[in-house]
Amino acid sequence: MDNNLVIFEQDSQTKEVILGYLSEFEDVKLDRVFDDYAEGVKYIKENRPKVVMFSMTSDKNTSLKMIKRLSDFGVNIIALSEDYTTSNIIQTLRYGAKDFVSKPVIKKDLFVALVKCCQEDVKVLKKSQIISVFSNKGGVGKTAIATNLAVELTKLTRDKVALVDLNLPIGDVTTFLDIKPTIDISEIINNSQIDNSEFITDACRRYKDTSLYVLAEPPYIEQSRTLTPAQIVKLFDCLRNAFSYIVVDMGTNVDKLNMTILEKSDIILLITIVNLPLIRNCQRCLDLFENLEFPSDKTKVIVNRYLENDEITVEDVENTINKPVYWKVPNNYFTIMSSINKGIPVSEVNENSNITESFTQLASKLTEDMFESDLT
Ligand SMILES: Nc1ncnc2c1ncn2[C@@H]1O[C@H](COP(=O)(O)OP(=O)(O)O)[C@@H](O)[C@H]1O
Ligand SMILES: [Mg+2]
Repeated sequence: MDNNLVIFEQDSQTKEVILGYLSEFEDVKLDRVFDDYAEGVKYIKENRPKVVMFSMTSDKNTSLKMIKRLSDFGVNIIALSEDYTTSNIIQTLRYGAKDFVSKPVIKKDLFVALVKCCQEDVKVLKKSQIISVFSNKGGVGKTAIATNLAVELTKLTRDKVALVDLNLPIGDVTTFLDIKPTIDISEIINNSQIDNSEFITDACRRYKDTSLYVLAEPPYIEQSRTLTPAQIVKLFDCLRNAFSYIVVDMGTNVDKLNMTILEKSDIILLITIVNLPLIRNCQRCLDLFENLEFPSDKTKVIVNRYLENDEITVEDVENTINKPVYWKVPNNYFTIMSSINKGIPVSEVNENSNITESFTQLASKLTEDMFESDLT
């Protein structure tokens, strides 16, 4: 992969100095130089360069917010600033910068930072991660969350992501992404080539030009057969060979099949909405998982359709379920409905909506947590 670089610098003299230094540094390819922030962010969001050199302005708070925003895109940020007090350096790194270079820029400092950002490989997981999206009630947003999370994980990590519809016998991932289902999953599992990662990738439908692949059941119920727990285990083993992240949209039954999926998952996203019967249901699922001896940090509770001024607060939810809420997805009926009706992810409906932002950041938080637990 190229070590692409994007620079944010408003001062023309500094710009010239940096460009001069870069002509001697062969390991990076300069993509663009921006002095307009909004334009630059848009470019970075779409192109995900490996390194971003970001010159902080005298408006420190805004600069830190920008660094945070850029780091959410998974790029390596080198912050440049005239203020090289320890407190500023620490704060900058805390907001997500990978390295800090003081201004006026010295060639050696810049090169050291660049080497650090380029050498450090894009984090590679030791083991691929199965993330299952579950609730024992329908209509809470499982498919909306599984689909949009898979899209954001793909954008963020640029790794191969599989979105698997195991809401059998009729899932709806294909409706959410407007793709044609054709496959009978049990047929794939019974194929002798199942262990071949190319075969399993080909069996999935690639979403547009991305590294997201969708595995969905056939369009008619009668074409889909029931899967056995043993087949699920086999399917997951094979998907792990071919994909870094496997997002599973699940059904609502608490049966042997779903318990096998949950047991085999690395992470369970348990979805609820703020409504008493559903919160109690969520509590029951957590009790069940405890009885099944799932590690408690394996299950992460997500509150969907969150409203800031709801009568029941997140604290109330946390007190009831006796567990912190991992993430809140805002209520945005208009954007979700428009996305479902058009068969596109919310980011394609409106990349600036609160719900798109929420999915981007959820993907970012999850990957961070996965890397951390992967290291231990
Ligand atoms: N964050 C949200 N804001 C507003 N409406 C939502 C949100 N998430 C889901 N919905 C609505 O809930 C409905 C059910 O969502 P869906 O993902 O199909 O649920 P499930 O897969 O759990 O049955 C969607 O059609 C949509 O109208
Ligand atoms: Mg669904």
